[in-house]
Amino acid sequence: LGMPSSIHCNFLHCLDQSSQSSIPVYTPNNSNYLSILKSTIQNLKFLSSTTPKPHLIIAPLHQSHVQAIVVCSRRHGIQIKVRSGGHDYEGLSYVSDVPFLIVDMFNLRSITVDVEDRTAWVQSGALLGELYYRIAEQSHVLGFPAGVCPTVGAGGYFSGGGYGAMLRKYGLAADNVIDAQLVDVRGRILSRESMGEDLFWAIRGGGGGSFGIIISWKIKLVDVPPIVTVFTISKILEQGATSIVHKWQEIAHKLPNELFIRVLIKPLNSTKKMEKTVQASFNSLFLGDAEKLLILMKDRFPELGLRRKDCIETSWIRSTLYFANYQVEATPDILLNMTQAKEFSKGKSDYVKEPIPQIGLQGIWKRLLLQEDSSLTFTPYGGRMNEISEYEIPFPHRNGTFYQIMYKVSWKEAPRFAKQLSWIRELYSYMAPYVSKNPRQAYVNYRDLDLGRSKNGTTNYLRGRAWGTKYFKNNYERLVYVKSKYDPYNFFRNEQSIPTVALPQ
Ligand code: FDA
Repeated sequence: LGMPSSIHCNFLHCLDQSSQSSIPVYTPNNSNYLSILKSTIQNLKFLSSTTPKPHLIIAPLHQSHVQAIVVCSRRHGIQIKVRSGGHDYEGLSYVSDVPFLIVDMFNLRSITVDVEDRTAWVQSGALLGELYYRIAEQSHVLGFPAGVCPTVGAGGYFSGGGYGAMLRKYGLAADNVIDAQLVDVRGRILSRESMGEDLFWAIRGGGGGSFGIIISWKIKLVDVPPIVTVFTISKILEQGATSIVHKWQEIAHKLPNELFIRVLIKPLNSTKKMEKTVQASFNSLFLGDAEKLLILMKDRFPELGLRRKDCIETSWIRSTLYFANYQVEATPDILLNMTQAKEFSKGKSDYVKEPIPQIGLQGIWKRLLLQEDSSLTFTPYGGRMNEISEYEIPFPHRNGTFYQIMYKVSWKEAPRFAKQLSWIRELYSYMAPYVSKNPRQAYVNYRDLDLGRSKNGTTNYLRGRAWGTKYFKNNYERLVYVKSKYDPYNFFRNEQSIPTVALPQ
């Protein structure tokens, strides 16, 4: 599946002609090609010698470079993949079935914070940790409700919704986007005003890669108190984890919006003192001080047994370090230079709308005990998430959702992972009775090609419903309409992109 060299040359010639300054292009012969390709590949599953590699990596320095890339790749029929932070679960930003090139946004990563206006412009190539740092650099009482993991890129993250520890108070990152700059299929730079509300709606949660190349997002900053409190309390099965998780399911989505308690669940290996067991860690951010939190927890969740010494009072910026598994005493500068441990992994997601009975939870524990390096994360919804209509942006998992589940299995050696894949698929099928149905909903930012895939993004509307309605429910229809209107020839595409239909003239 090579790209004919004439196309290659013509394309490069076109780039040269269309841009006033030189655009960094890396061919496989370039000594930096491999290190750039690898730099942000988060899932090592897609870094094997058999994974298709891009013919070129282009790293625009300026928005005009992005315009030139779109114009020239369209003219020469070249498939592009856009990459910001490279965290896509299925590698959709840097792998393709057909010859392709990567538009890598890492040079476009500026962040401009306007404290007075309470807004910021964030370029796609910026990572979430950099955003947090730049906000905190200017204000201790402003923050932004973005992801738990600071190495995720703004480009993909906002495109799929984006949640984090403040979602119960402020909703998703995409709920707080007020403007954007995008390069469309004709190579034009559009703002919210010039793209119109349909396209502006679609890019805030409709998933990356379908509508254009986002250059930057304008976001609304939110209030954070000078002191927040974090804690993590772990319980194993022998300490009553099952009934505490069961209780958590009933209350976590109804707690005051300032309180976020997620549950990280994983198997623990046996030790001299202990048989193999399952551990549930209750990992929390409270937008207030410890004293208030203790009163609240005593009233609403006494089963967890929170004590003053479990609570760490800190600033919001340091709480982001805590959620990234650093000590709160660490210097926030590390947010500017953070690397995430890379791994081979497979993830999936679900939404839960009523508590899973204890017997159902026990079935999960049984499965976790069978698979090392497996985990589940339960993320509570409710609060602000309930108040936003499921049609406001494409992300539809709103009122009535108790919590989201992320399933993950990882492994250390490349060659064999059939066992891990069948393990996670079996767990997913076991969970069917306990989670959302018709459709069984899923989070688009936890891309999962098990839900269906189209070769080179050429599927039709009906086949695309297989994953489209899971990620977007009824918003799928509107996404197809917007896609068909703004990119009728399906230039921006990937294995699960939004398909087009012929619209009436
Ligand atoms: P990447 O660059 O791989 O892009 C993802 C998709 O968006 C691809 O289809 C890509 O083509 C497209 N895209 C990228 N840049 C674009 C641009 N400028 N314009 C148009 N399309 C573009 N999610 C969450 O909500 N909360 C969380 O806390 C976390 N935590 C987390 C931790 C870890 C370790 C991982 C691996 C993932 C998460 N996620 C997450 C999921 C994350 O939000 C999701 O993978 C994002 O799509 C990643 O965005 P990146 O820019 O990093 O990915």
